[in-house]
Amino acid sequence: METVTLNTGIQLPIIGSGTNTFGKVDGNYMGDINGDTSELLMAMDVGYRHFDTAISYRNESVVGKALQESKKERDQFFITSKIPGREEYYADENAVKKGVEQSLQALNTDYIDLYLIHHPWDNLEQMLSMWRVLESYVDKGTLKAIGVSNFNEEQLDYLIENGRIKPAVNQVESHPGKWNDEIINYSLEHQVIPEAWGPLTRVSDQAKEALNKIAEKYNKTWAQIILRYQIERGVVVIPKSHNKERQQQNLDVFNFELAEEDKQVISQQ
Ligand SMILES: NC(=O)c1ccc[n+]([C@@H]2O[C@H](COP(=O)([O-])OP(=O)(O)OC[C@H]3O[C@@H](n4cnc5c(N)ncnc54)[C@H](OP(=O)(O)O)[C@@H]3O)[C@@H](O)[C@H]2O)c1
Repeated sequence: METVTLNTGIQLPIIGSGTNTFGKVDGNYMGDINGDTSELLMAMDVGYRHFDTAISYRNESVVGKALQESKKERDQFFITSKIPGREEYYADENAVKKGVEQSLQALNTDYIDLYLIHHPWDNLEQMLSMWRVLESYVDKGTLKAIGVSNFNEEQLDYLIENGRIKPAVNQVESHPGKWNDEIINYSLEHQVIPEAWGPLTRVSDQAKEALNKIAEKYNKTWAQIILRYQIERGVVVIPKSHNKERQQQNLDVFNFELAEEDKQVISQQ
C-alpha cells in the first residue's frame, strides 16, 4: 500500500477503510453496537491496515476487538479516531483528556496513530485549548499525529498559526457533486494532508453514468475511478463497504493512471 508521510514522520496508508456503520445492528449508523467484527476482519483479510473510527461512531471498542482478533502486531495497523467538538469533550483540560483516554481504552491500545478534532465549533480559542492538550499527547507518544476534520480555511489557519504542532490532516467531505476543491487545495498548499470522507456516497445516477464511460476504458468501475482521481490529486480516501468484493475493489486502484482529459470530465461531476 502506498503511503504519505505525515508531519510527525509517520506513514499514512493512502487508502483506509471507513467504519462508521461497522459493528452495528443492521449496519445502521444509529443502530446498537453488536460487537460484530466480521466487516473489519474481512477488510483486514483483503489488505486494509488503515481504519477510520471516532468516539461518535460508538464502535471504537469493536475496532479494538478486531485488532485483537486479527492476531497481528499493533504496529501493522494505522488507526484514526476522533474526539467530538462537543462541550463535554472541550470544556477544560480534563474533558479533553477524558476523551483521549476513552478512545485508548475502547481501542484497547496504548497509542493512536492519528487523532482528529471531529468537527469545529464557533470558538477558535477553545479549539486551540483542545489542540494544546492533544499536542501534549503527541509529546508523550500516545498520539502519533493529530489533525482536524471539517475545518474551513479560517479554522485551519488559526491552528496552523497558533498551535505548536501543525495539523497533519484535514478530513473533509469530498465526492462527485461536492468535491470541496477549495478547502482541499488550501490544505494541500499548507502541507496538511486532505482526506476525503464519504468518497462514494451521494453520487448521482448521472455522475455514475459519466464515470462508467470513463471506467470502461480502464476496465474499472465508477467507484474505482473516483478513488483513483482523489489519490492522483493528493487526497487520502477512506471508502467503506460491508461487502468483501467491493472492499477488495476499492483497494484495486494502483494499476492504472487517469488521462488528463478524463480528469477534466471527472472534476466536472
Ligand atoms: N469526519 C467526518 O465528519 C466523517 C463523516 C462521515 C463519514 N466519515 C468517515 O468516512 C467513511 C466513509 O464514508 P461513508 O461510510 O459515509 O461512505 P462511503 O465510503 O462514501 O460509501 C459507502 C457506500 O458506498 C457503497 N460502496 C462502497 N464501495 C463501493 C463500490 N466499490 N461500488 C459501489 N458501491 C460501493 C457502500 O455499500 P456496500 O456496503 O453495500 O458496499 C455504502 O453504501 C465513514 O465510514 C467514516 O469512517 C467521516
